[in-house]
Amino acid sequence: MQITLLEMLWLFVLFSLSGWLLEFFFRSFRRKRLVNPGFLKGPWLPIYGICAVLFVLSKTHLQESYILLKILAYLSTTTGLELINFSDVYLQVINFIIKCIVYLCIATGLEFFTGYLFDRMFHIQFWDYSNERYRIKNYVCLKYSLCWLALALGFEYILTPVSFSVFYKLPSNVIKVIIITVAEIILIDFIYRMIQAIRAKRKENPAVTNQQPMDRLLEFADIIKPLYEHPDVARLAKYKHHRETSRLDHSMEVAWLSYVIAKKMSLDYQAVIRGAILHDLFFYDWLSEGPRFHGLRHPRISLKNAGKVTNLSNIEIDIIKKHMWPLTPMPPRYPESWIVCFVDTYCTVKEYVLVLKKVYEE
Ligand SMILES: [Fe+2]
Ligand SMILES: [Fe+2]
Repeated sequence: MQITLLEMLWLFVLFSLSGWLLEFFFRSFRRKRLVNPGFLKGPWLPIYGICAVLFVLSKTHLQESYILLKILAYLSTTTGLELINFSDVYLQVINFIIKCIVYLCIATGLEFFTGYLFDRMFHIQFWDYSNERYRIKNYVCLKYSLCWLALALGFEYILTPVSFSVFYKLPSNVIKVIIITVAEIILIDFIYRMIQAIRAKRKENPAVTNQQPMDRLLEFADIIKPLYEHPDVARLAKYKHHRETSRLDHSMEVAWLSYVIAKKMSLDYQAVIRGAILHDLFFYDWLSEGPRFHGLRHPRISLKNAGKVTNLSNIEIDIIKKHMWPLTPMPPRYPESWIVCFVDTYCTVKEYVLVLKKVYEE
């Protein structure tokens, strides 16, 4: 079953509203007073809407993909398993288990990501599982993840068919206008609240808000100086990195841009600067020498070299080790690492564009 954009928006809007109602009653009942459960002004919780869309997309994909057939084909060629009769019931059970795992990953992943991001960036905690057992930080716990799984299954077998039957009964033009309007209002509400949260965060730290460009430059220089002056880091000036730029210049630019972004987002900018200046700390011309699969291996080489230069924090280690994601499979763990990863990609593209421009002009 292919799902259209309008159907996705319908699910998003409907379940953002339903999710808000669910949490409103649940939290108000527990605290014995009326509680707005969301971050936004309006009666919607987009995390529920996003989850609903992801559930339907994953279900559609699981149905259409041949993953199950591939697994069974493999099993049937395995010695000792040829005689197993993969009956319909057996297939359905496997399919159901795969689906549950996918639903669990989507709901728990989204819950962790949202909780972690808002806590780190704005120090806002929407929920606190510190009293629960089997939890990761205070953002997700086994008990609620199983509740989300039950909700996801209820969503698939009851709520989705009901919601789509309502959708198809309503006059298409009217429903189209309503869905798009509400989705736009949710988006505006989200942007408005994000701006408010960023402003509030800046007010908490006026030194950051009122910082002049020169002060910023001096602060950057202060942090980077001990590393910049280290002989191993200074050696990077000898190597061309992306044809024209030296590896030291590339690392400095990545460090500066990452610092500006991290500072604006009130993140650990010292770790960002230190991680970024060391992220490409390897001593060979990767175009003509060095190990095979340089793209995959140089983050670990850089990390080893960086460890000889200075003591590294967990964030700095993560920045260096994962700056080539998605080439290295594990995604960055901290927002600081994501910033350096994106800025590094941006600087690399920019440096190659400059090379192409030069070649073209010649
Ligand atoms: Fe790199
Ligand atoms: Fe780089």
